[in-house]
Amino acid sequence: MVTRVPPEPFRIKMVEPVHVPDQQERERALEAGHFNMFGLKSADVYIDLLTDSGTGAMSKQQWAAIMMGDEAYAGADSFYSLKKAVKDVLGFDYTIPVHQGRAAENVVFGSLVKEGDVIPFNMPFDTTRGHIFNAKASSVDCVIDEAFDRETPHPFKGNVDIAKLEKALADNRGRVPFIMVTITNNSGGGQPVSLKNLRDVSAVAKKHGIPLLLDAARMAENAWFIKNREPDCRDMTVAEILKATMDTADAITVSCKKDPLVNIGGLVACRTEEMYYKVVPRVILFEGFATYGGLAGRDLEALAVGLREMVNEQHLTHRIAQVRYLGELLTEGGVPCIQPIGGHAVFIDAGAFLPHIPQGSYPADVLSIEIYREGAVRGIGLGALAFENVDEKTGARTFPKLELYRLAINRRTYTNSHMEYVAETIINVYNRRDSIRYGLEITYEPPVKGLKHFLAHLRPKNL
Ligand code: F0G
Repeated sequence: MVTRVPPEPFRIKMVEPVHVPDQQERERALEAGHFNMFGLKSADVYIDLLTDSGTGAMSKQQWAAIMMGDEAYAGADSFYSLKKAVKDVLGFDYTIPVHQGRAAENVVFGSLVKEGDVIPFNMPFDTTRGHIFNAKASSVDCVIDEAFDRETPHPFKGNVDIAKLEKALADNRGRVPFIMVTITNNSGGGQPVSLKNLRDVSAVAKKHGIPLLLDAARMAENAWFIKNREPDCRDMTVAEILKATMDTADAITVSCKKDPLVNIGGLVACRTEEMYYKVVPRVILFEGFATYGGLAGRDLEALAVGLREMVNEQHLTHRIAQVRYLGELLTEGGVPCIQPIGGHAVFIDAGAFLPHIPQGSYPADVLSIEIYREGAVRGIGLGALAFENVDEKTGARTFPKLELYRLAINRRTYTNSHMEYVAETIINVYNRRDSIRYGLEITYEPPVKGLKHFLAHLRPKNL
């Protein structure tokens, strides 16, 4: 059964025409882009679900706020608007703007992590893992086992397994600068983390005297799931749940291009002056002065409004229902999707969709090519190409447990008929899946570990 989506809590004031490229244009675009979805031009894509990051539509209040931007180098009014929004919505006293999420990772990891350190995580996202490698440190995935099982209907598949966390801490005593939890867990299918689990992780962190950090890009969606799935929190508002979530953490890094509804922006927020002064020199080196962090004053204003809008329950209910609608249409058409459907995206199990393509031939990326071919829809493979580990000495390859293809839904951007078109496109590919008889080989890969999928040149190769 497909659940009805509640009507949109907005109306449309401005449209952005999009073009549907024909078959010949699609083939040319694939060749020119080296069969990598990151290589396609946006003009060659009809429905672009590559990411939900920075691709949403801002509200008229956000556009109006842009006119209030104070572009002073230090101490701009716009910084104080942002600082107040962070205090009101999230409760942190110290706010450092940065230009996006990975900039927050750069300044935090570069300031607090040293060579040989180990960071227990539920699961880091790809750029986060890249930053951990870059700091010559490593991470330990402590997510619950259910996260790796496509069908298990666990309500909080992003949860940390406390026994795994305790073991990671015991195995790496003296080398853990902090524990980190991503809410929602993007790499594991956009799955939420419960408030109880965060409180348990926080208690473990306190017991060991180690800070707890949250990667909070999708913190409002996470709070919505808590309200709807955690019985103890049913009577709280999403705003109250979000505050309670933040209360478990010593600091957060945020890509504000997701839930906070801006096209560019990021944040580090923390509770103590001590941590603030540890992080801020690196902000000045890499981003800009501490009160603008690589953003224009107008960006800070739009973000201050977006932070307040993101906890609007009608917005979240509609958004999460739209993502679920696409997931249910696909599931009904037989397409193997991670269940339950995540908050920001539908994740298809590409390994189950194309079981005849070995993981070493990148089935998730073959799927992205075939879906683009079929309907000019762009999603992204998040499987071996993104996450495999190749031993530098032996060349031995270790593959990730999940071989996924992701359709990330932009906030307030596409209609439900767009979702129906995407579902039809993918179901058509599913119905001809046995005829897809090729894999991919890499003809160019960048020399930096962790970034292969962004920049690889690929070539189809018959199996
Ligand atoms: N953390 C998470 C959980 C993310 O999903 C992302 C980005 C980042 C950090 C980095 O933030 O892009 O602003 O530098 N995720 C995007 C995605 C790109 O497509 O899921 P950023």
